[in-house]
Amino acid sequence: MVDRIRASLYSTVSMESPLSSDALRSFDPELFNLIQREHQRQSTTIDLIASENHVSRAVREALGSLLTDKYAEGYPGRRYYSGCGIVDEIETVAINRAKAVFGVEHANVQPHSGSQANFAAYLALISSGSTILGMDLSHGGHLTHGAEVSFSGKFFRSATYGVDRKTSLIDYDHVRSLALHQRPSLIIAGASSYPRVINFSIFGEIAREAGALLLVDSAHIAGLIAGGAHPSPVPHADIITGTTQKTLRGPRGGFILCKSTFGTKIDSAVFPGSQGGPLMHTIAAKAVCFQEALLPSFKDYAQTVVSNAQIIAEELIEAGLRVVSGGTDNHLVLVDLANLNMTGKEAQDALERAGIVANRNKIPYDTRSAMIAGGLRLGTPAITTRGFSPDEVRAISRDICAVLREPNSESVRDRVHRSVLEMCERHPIPGAD
Ligand SMILES: Cc1ncc(COP(=O)(O)O)c(C=O)c1O
Repeated sequence: MVDRIRASLYSTVSMESPLSSDALRSFDPELFNLIQREHQRQSTTIDLIASENHVSRAVREALGSLLTDKYAEGYPGRRYYSGCGIVDEIETVAINRAKAVFGVEHANVQPHSGSQANFAAYLALISSGSTILGMDLSHGGHLTHGAEVSFSGKFFRSATYGVDRKTSLIDYDHVRSLALHQRPSLIIAGASSYPRVINFSIFGEIAREAGALLLVDSAHIAGLIAGGAHPSPVPHADIITGTTQKTLRGPRGGFILCKSTFGTKIDSAVFPGSQGGPLMHTIAAKAVCFQEALLPSFKDYAQTVVSNAQIIAEELIEAGLRVVSGGTDNHLVLVDLANLNMTGKEAQDALERAGIVANRNKIPYDTRSAMIAGGLRLGTPAITTRGFSPDEVRAISRDICAVLREPNSESVRDRVHRSVLEMCERHPIPGAD
């Protein structure tokens, strides 16, 4: 009987997604038009924001699926609601793929974001009031590594390390002496705007010497680690947090990786410790992105992200600009604008008028506020995903220099904008119609 009813229901319910773009267009033209305009903006500009990327159509389909309707508090096999059999399978697939991508014993794919992942990791590992040692925000660290305005600076005693004034590199001897002096419970390695390889092995040694746990925040470089273009923290870290939306090229979201000894603590710090129901549509999209990261072609993508950033650094240096640390080993280039007598805000605005989207950024020892900033951060994940060739990356770099040298020249702006539009036309956004 039940089977007969089910069969007749299936015959009347279309298996097509009920909310196609036509549904949005006719039901909510205001929103439809706004999304169209954002689509147009992305399609006609060059995105050099180091933390952004373009997801595949497969990732977007999973994100837009009806999995968003399902409540599934708990974990596979241990949910608080019924009807979770299929989402259990989905989350298990995501977990297994994350473990395969990074070669770890335990993965939690529920954190809603990178910040949520860090929150849960701290909650699992240390008690409030204990000391954390992370990279200074103004030297490239993240808000959640101990900044005053974040939970991490409010609930914990925060000590910070920076980079060397001359080399702009992490001074590991200084980190060691800080760790031995401050005796943190947790050391955080990882950054939002550090253009060089981070030596996780030395961080591991320092943590052991100081009796601290080591958390590696891989948010920015997770895709490079997955693709073998940055050394893996797995042998050295106790816990690894990360985001799927940046170099990993997945949906907006976080994850936590660890040895199985920390698994139960981490899982309960995510749910019920700091989140409610997981976003099952996002977890499905994370599973798709992990599957993409397991493809041999992902290695090429990761290597090309780095080689494209190196092209930008070379061109900028050649043009006489100061590139922080003298180059890059990863997906980003940090430019000091001091010798152009320009602020990061002015540079960002001038570039945007020419169709190039990047963000102002403090450089180490910057005296300006983050809203103005003395530097510019340029990243290559999105242009690599769009398939810009090395020559095109070189051309974009030269165009950036031209705009920065003459930010008020209309002829430079028009020439660069035309070239941006031509390149964008050659490289439509993957997955976009
Ligand atoms: C190093 C680092 N950790 C954590 C985060 C937080 O990620 P989310 O924006 O997903 O909360 C970021 C975001 O830029 C980051 O750069």
